[in-house]
Amino acid sequence: MNDTVCFRNIGQLVQVDTANKPPRLKILDKHALIVKNGRVEKVLKDSGLKSSNYSRVIDLKGKTVIPGLVDCHTHLIYAGERKDEMERRLDATSYMDILKRGGGILSTVKATREADGKSLLKTAKARMKRMMALGTTAFEIKSGYGLDIETEKKILSVGNRLEKELPVPVTLTYLGAHAIPEGSTKSQYFDFVMKNLPLFRNLADGVDIFCEEGVFSVKDLKRLFLQAKLVGFTQLRAHVEELSHQGGCAEAARLGAVSCDHLEYANPKDIRAMKHGDTVAVLMPGVTFFLGGKKTPLVHSMLDAGVTLALATDCNPGSSPTYNMQTVLNLACHLYRITPEQALVAATYGSAKALEDHEKYGSLQPGQRADFLTLKTKDYRDLFYYFGENFVEQTFIQGQAVRIPKAPAIE
Ligand code: NIG
Ligand code: FE
Repeated sequence: MNDTVCFRNIGQLVQVDTANKPPRLKILDKHALIVKNGRVEKVLKDSGLKSSNYSRVIDLKGKTVIPGLVDCHTHLIYAGERKDEMERRLDATSYMDILKRGGGILSTVKATREADGKSLLKTAKARMKRMMALGTTAFEIKSGYGLDIETEKKILSVGNRLEKELPVPVTLTYLGAHAIPEGSTKSQYFDFVMKNLPLFRNLADGVDIFCEEGVFSVKDLKRLFLQAKLVGFTQLRAHVEELSHQGGCAEAARLGAVSCDHLEYANPKDIRAMKHGDTVAVLMPGVTFFLGGKKTPLVHSMLDAGVTLALATDCNPGSSPTYNMQTVLNLACHLYRITPEQALVAATYGSAKALEDHEKYGSLQPGQRADFLTLKTKDYRDLFYYFGENFVEQTFIQGQAVRIPKAPAIE
């Protein structure tokens, strides 16, 4: 009884009902959330609660509670920013042309190689705190701005520090195959990535690859995944069908990828492969918005096929400089024409599944981590209706209110 906290007087308590196939929201009025030792113990009707049963009773005054948002695809450890590049893109130079001329990802690689671990830790930590304040309670973070052993290790070591120093779950991914560094050919660099894969095994949970014309091929993806499995990486992810259709999605799903990410150009065959492989489709509408892409993924075909959708920021300085999963939720609804319910299930349960952690968090079901948000509204749909607002009043991690930095982390 000692560590049992009762969050009472919740106006709208939103959980994900995972017993339903596909999972749906379960919305309860006037309920209380009972949290024991950082986990959801049960949900009770508010009327008739006995406060003497709990070590603490917190009155939420009719507010809305939703599960914490899960950001299952970020590149948040980096130095520098790319506002000049944004201006060039707005003036009609394409994202890939900028990369081909040594800018884009490669300009962030340069800045990140020059930064020391201490400053990378400081900026990434500030970003994560900001993201937590905006409602994110679990993260995936990729490397990929080093493209050499030293810097990739530096980035992943910072990721491991963040995991220890912040109270949130962090999944780390080695993305050595993110771009081809200057001074190497594709095949030289890819051979180097393959050879050195074991060096990253203890620093990351999984691997990822950017499969795109002019970057890495479907053949590279296959070689990387097979080798990664041999080396003992447990999670395979891929940036696929983002700017063109290459066939990486179907291949990744066939090889057991836990997630396929982006998918603007994914076709019905790819969707069938994801369904067959139980691969999560990670969608990032912030990228569509920021890169001015006209093409959106076949989201309704994915839903009809029973593919699990997830949503993420893709937080990075080139294609999606946002910290805000609320913005992602809002954009997903209106760019993809999906319902608030479908978007919220994707950003909680779906994103947790993309990290293979859907048993541990994401649904606010009994037994899960008590990671939740109180909203400054009585209706969770306001998140999708008003845009450009911050509706998160307080983020709770394992039942504890997190302290929110007042200033945005713009560094
Ligand atoms: O997920 N597509 C490749 N990688 C990132 C962008 C990284 C960058 O532009 O710095 C993405 O969109
Ligand atoms: Fe990405």
